Amino acid sequence: MIRTRIAGIGKYLPGRVVRNDDLQTVMDTSDEWIQERTGIQERRYGTKHQETTTTMAAQAARIAIERAGITPEDIDFILFATLSPDYYFPGCGVLLQRELGITKTSVGAMDIRNQCTGFVYGLATGDQFIRSGMYRNILLVGAEMHSMGLDFTTRGRNVTVIFGDGAGAVVLQPTEEPGKGILANRLHSDGTHAEKLAFINPGAHGGYHNKYLDEPVDYGYGNETYGGIFLTDKMMEEAMTFPYMDGPFVFKMAVQKFPEVIQEVLGEAGVTAADLGMLIPHQANLRISQFVQRTLRLRDDQVWNNIQKYGNTTAASVPIALCEALEAGAIRDGDLVCLAAFGSGFTWGANLLRWG
Ligand code: COA
Repeated sequence: MIRTRIAGIGKYLPGRVVRNDDLQTVMDTSDEWIQERTGIQERRYGTKHQETTTTMAAQAARIAIERAGITPEDIDFILFATLSPDYYFPGCGVLLQRELGITKTSVGAMDIRNQCTGFVYGLATGDQFIRSGMYRNILLVGAEMHSMGLDFTTRGRNVTVIFGDGAGAVVLQPTEEPGKGILANRLHSDGTHAEKLAFINPGAHGGYHNKYLDEPVDYGYGNETYGGIFLTDKMMEEAMTFPYMDGPFVFKMAVQKFPEVIQEVLGEAGVTAADLGMLIPHQANLRISQFVQRTLRLRDDQVWNNIQKYGNTTAASVPIALCEALEAGAIRDGDLVCLAAFGSGFTWGANLLRWG
C-alpha cells in the first residue's frame, strides 16, 4: 500500500528579532499584556526590499530538498500556502519555481489560500497526488511575510503583536513501509463567520458582503461604471487596508474546533490521544495550545510550542514547529505525529502520520 511520507523538512526564520518591548515604542502595548494573553515574547521580521514570502520559502525549501536527497529539478509539483503573497497574482508557487531555478515546465505549481490551515490543507492535497501516483516529489511550503501588511499603530495592536514572518517546507514522497506515512486527514470549513478574521481591502467585493455584517461599512465608492472599486481613497485614508480580527470570537471557536478535529483523525486511525508521540498545533496563541493540551490530557512532552519565539506565522507555523521538534530530537522514527490548525475562513483540519 502506498502512503505519503515527509522525506525532507526545512525552516527559515529571518534574522531580525522584534521583542515585545520594541513594539511598545510604536504603539500602546506592553510586554506584560502580550505575554499574558498570547505567550509571545518575540517574533522575527524579514528584511524589507531584500526578503519576501517567496525568498524565505526558497530558503526553507532548499534545506528540505537537500534533506530529501534530491535536487530542485526533481520536484514535480509545488504547493504554496500563504496569505501574504508577493503579488496579488501570479501566486507564489511560480515565483518559488523561478527562485529555485526549476526550469522544466512539467512541474505544476499551485497556491493555497487557506491562511492558518494552509499547510494542513496542503499536506492533505499532496497526499492525494502521491497516493494516486501522479507525483513522486512534491514540494509543500507555508511562508509568510506578515510584517509588510500590519498596522504598526495602536489601532492595529490586537492583530499586529501576534504575527511574525517565516517559512517552512517539506518534500513529500511515496513510501511502502508498512504503517508509515500519512494515516488520516480531516478538513473542515464554515464560511458563516468569514469576516471575523479577514483582510478585506483591497479587493473586488464592491461592498457586496455588507449584508453579512452586523453594521454595513462605507468603503467610499463613487459612481464608477468601470473599475475604481478595488482600492478607494477612503480605504487608504481610514486604514481599511489592514487585517481585522475579532480575537475573543476566534479564540472561542479555536478551542472548540482544535480538539474536535484532532479526535477525528485519531479515531479514523483507531488510536487515542495517549498514543500520540507529538502534537504540532498551529501556533495561534499559547493559551489555545494549553487549552487543547488539557482537553486531550496530553503531557508537556507530547505538544510542541514555539510561539514564544516566533509569534503566529500563519501557514508557516506548523512546518516550522515540526521542523524544530525534529531537529530537537523530540520526534523519533515510528512516532505518531498529529498536525492541527484552525484559522480564518473559518477553516480547520488535521493530519495524522506515523513518522519514518
Ligand atoms: N496591547 C495592549 N492592550 C491591547 C492589545 C495590545 N496589543 N490588544 C488589545 N488590547 C486591549 C483591547 O483594546 C481591550 O481593551 P479594552 O478592554 O479597554 O477595550 C483589552 O486589551 C482586551 O482585549 P480583548 O481582545 O478582549 O483581549 P483578549 O483577552 O481576547 O486577547 C487576543 C486578545 C487577540 C490575544 C485573543 O483574543 C486571541 O488570542 N484570540 C485568538 C487569536 C488567534 O488565535 N488568531 C489567529 C487565529 S489563527
